[in-house]
Amino acid sequence: MKIIEIIKPDDFHVHFRDGNILMAVVPETIRHFGRAIVMPNLIPPILNGFDAKRYKDEILDVIPKSNKFKPLMTLYLTENTRTDELEEAYQQEMIFAAKLYPAGATTNSEFGVGDISKIMPVLEKMSDIGMPLLIHGEVIDKEIDVFDREKKFIDTVLDFICSELPNLKITLEHITTKEATTYLQDSSINVSATITPHHLALNRNAIFNGGISPHYYCLPILKREVHRKALVRAATSGNPKFFLGTDTAPHLKSDKESECGCAGIFNATYCMSILAQLFDNENSLSQLENFTSINGAKHYNLKLNKEKIKLTKSETPITFEKTLKVNKDHINIFNPNFDVYWKVSTS
Ligand code: DOR
Ligand code: ZN
Repeated sequence: MKIIEIIKPDDFHVHFRDGNILMAVVPETIRHFGRAIVMPNLIPPILNGFDAKRYKDEILDVIPKSNKFKPLMTLYLTENTRTDELEEAYQQEMIFAAKLYPAGATTNSEFGVGDISKIMPVLEKMSDIGMPLLIHGEVIDKEIDVFDREKKFIDTVLDFICSELPNLKITLEHITTKEATTYLQDSSINVSATITPHHLALNRNAIFNGGISPHYYCLPILKREVHRKALVRAATSGNPKFFLGTDTAPHLKSDKESECGCAGIFNATYCMSILAQLFDNENSLSQLENFTSINGAKHYNLKLNKEKIKLTKSETPITFEKTLKVNKDHINIFNPNFDVYWKVSTS
C-alpha cells in the first residue's frame, strides 16, 4: 500500500449553480478542496458585488461550520459592466476576479461579450488594480470548426489582450490544445492556465465510442490524443503556469440526455483520485501537489492551505458511484473508464 500526503488542494474553476443543485454539489467539492473560484454563469448571471454577496451567502449556508472552505466569487463581464462598480466590488472583497465569456461560447454565455473592444476600459482598470481576468478562450464564429475555436481565440483575442495589457493577470481557463500549452510556456509570468481532469483523462474518441456519449460532452470540446498528451505533459511538468481548475459543471441527467444536450461534466466527486492515478501513470506523483495545491495559489497571491489530505493506493480499483441524487433527478458523476486505485482521506 502506498500513501502520499499533500497540501489540501484548491479548485480554481467550479460551477455550483444554485437551489437544489447547489445543495447537492457543494458537499462534493468541500470534501477535498480548501477553496474554489466560483463561476458566475447563473440565470440571471452574477453581474455585480451585491449579486456575488448574495450568491456567496447561499453557498456558505450549506457548509457546516466545522469546514473552513472558502468560496472565491466572480463577476460576469458584459459590455455594460461599469468600471467604477467593478473596482468598488473588488476593493471591498465582494469579488475575487471577473470572467470573460465570449457571447454564445458556452452554457449561459448569451449575456457575455460580443466585441472585445467594448470592455477594454474595464480590462485596463483590472490591470491597474491587480484584479484577475478569467477567460473562456473560444471564438464563436460559426464558420470556425468547433475543434479549432480555442486556437483561433488564442491567435486573435488572447494575444491582443496580452499585448495591450501586459500587466493584466490572466487565467486562460480549461485549456484543451497543444497550441495553448505552447502559448502559455512562451507568455509572460502574468498569464496562467487551468486544466480539467476530464481533458487530462480523455480524448475526443470518448464522445463517440460505439454510440454518442453526452456525459463526455463539454466546452471546450475534448480534442485529439496529441492534445491530451500535451496537457498531461504541461500538468505534470511542474511549470507553475499550469494548475487545477476542474470546471466541474453539473447538469441534470435529463438535460444532458436530450435532443440538445447541455455542455458540462460533473467531476468533483472523484477528481483527486483520478488526478492521482493520472500522475501515478506518468511516474509524476511528486508533481501532483504543485498542480493541485501550490501553482494556482501562487498565481493568485494566496497563502497555501494549512490542512493536508492523504491519498492511499489500494490493491483493487475503487468503485465509482454512478450518479448524485438531486431530489427526484440525478447528475451523472464523471468516470474516466480506466482503473483508479487512489482513495482520498482528509487528515
Ligand atoms: O462544458 C462546460 N460547461 N463548459 C463551460 O464553459 C461552461 C460549463 C457549464 O456552465 O455548464
Ligand atoms: Zn466552466
